Amino acid sequence: MQNKVIAISVTITILMVLRKIFKSHEKMNLKLIEHKTVVVTGASSGIGASYVKYFAEHGFDVIMTARRQKNMEEIKESLKHCNVKITVFPSDLQTDEGVNSLVKFVRDYNQPIGAFVSNAGIAYFPVDFTDSPREEYTKIINLHVNKTTDLIQKIGQLFKEQKSGVFVQVASGLGIVNYPMLQIYSATKAYLVSLIRSVNQEAKAYGVKYIAVCPLWVATPMTYTSKSNFFFASSDRLVKDFFCGSWANSSISPYWVHRALLKIWLSMSEKRRMEHVHGQAKEAQKRLARKKASLEAEARKQQ
Ligand SMILES: NC(=O)c1ccc[n+]([C@@H]2O[C@H](COP(=O)([O-])OP(=O)(O)OC[C@H]3O[C@@H](n4cnc5c(N)ncnc54)[C@H](OP(=O)(O)O)[C@@H]3O)[C@@H](O)[C@H]2O)c1
Ligand SMILES: *[C@@H]1O[C@H](CO)[C@@H](O)[C@H](O)[C@H]1NC(C)=O
Ligand SMILES: *[C@@H]1O[C@H](CO)[C@@H](O)[C@H](O)[C@H]1NC(C)=O
Repeated sequence: MQNKVIAISVTITILMVLRKIFKSHEKMNLKLIEHKTVVVTGASSGIGASYVKYFAEHGFDVIMTARRQKNMEEIKESLKHCNVKITVFPSDLQTDEGVNSLVKFVRDYNQPIGAFVSNAGIAYFPVDFTDSPREEYTKIINLHVNKTTDLIQKIGQLFKEQKSGVFVQVASGLGIVNYPMLQIYSATKAYLVSLIRSVNQEAKAYGVKYIAVCPLWVATPMTYTSKSNFFFASSDRLVKDFFCGSWANSSISPYWVHRALLKIWLSMSEKRRMEHVHGQAKEAQKRLARKKASLEAEARKQQ
């Protein structure tokens, strides 16, 4: 089995590298973003910050939003050399006021919006659902499902009026496969993937595009990982791959390793796949516990 997986991975790698060399979709994709102003949520760190950076470096004006204003101001400062207009608008997307104030700000901004990257999200320590604290999982359902649904509708209405716009929902590869121990995270992301795919079909009639982004592991504060490796893509790499890959499918996993793994997982029987990902979740739990402990020890030392 091990050998088979390696052989399949190597073949897929070679094919993907060849494809990459011969076909970059970047120019075509950027042409679909018809207007110069874009919005990124969850812009204060990780993947969101990388979207902001990519857009700024490609000449877009960016409205960034998240709760931590200071982090966003620092990111804005670091992108001064790009000579684009970056606007920091703090909002808490766990609340109706946060969603409504952001939508109002975007509308009052008085510029057509080229793209909206809905990226704000939270994860939690992997745990059996029976042991999951209710206040923790309701927070995730509230942000990923309730509030993000409102945002998708309200920005969708704006895009429909404009007759243009690219809506990018950062979901997760765990929204494509069911994942024990991160079950609520996985289920809320599956909801988003499903919603985006349906809405994308409806929006074809008026020239608006919806895409769900489904990465597996990205080196960000969410995963307590600062260095990227083969499995953990850097957030800059993920975003670059997102813009360079095909947008033909309304759900995509930009980093080729994740894409290959998802293909392999989906080719397994349900029983084998679930055993495999459950084993992986247990390993991740151990790894995260060690990382968390060492980060906490570090923090105590610095106090
Ligand atoms: N890292 C991974 O392995 C991975 C894999 C697949 C998918 N994803 C998804 O990618 C997205 C970004 O995650 P990340 O890895 O970049 O993690 P991150 O560094 O922790 O970033 C999460 C972002 O979401 C924002 N956010 C959280 N709660 C918010 C709220 N109530 N209101 C407004 N903003 C809020 C945070 O900003 P503030 O705290 O300042 O509000 C932060 O900017 C998430 O949707 C995540 O589920 C991550
Ligand atoms: C989500 O919205 C539903 C329907 O409005 C509501 O009944 C539920 O309490 C909300 N859930 C959370 C976690 O906020
Ligand atoms: C598009 O994405 C869906 C869901 O991830 C997948 O089932 C399907 O095979 C993909 N289609 C193509 C052409 O890649």
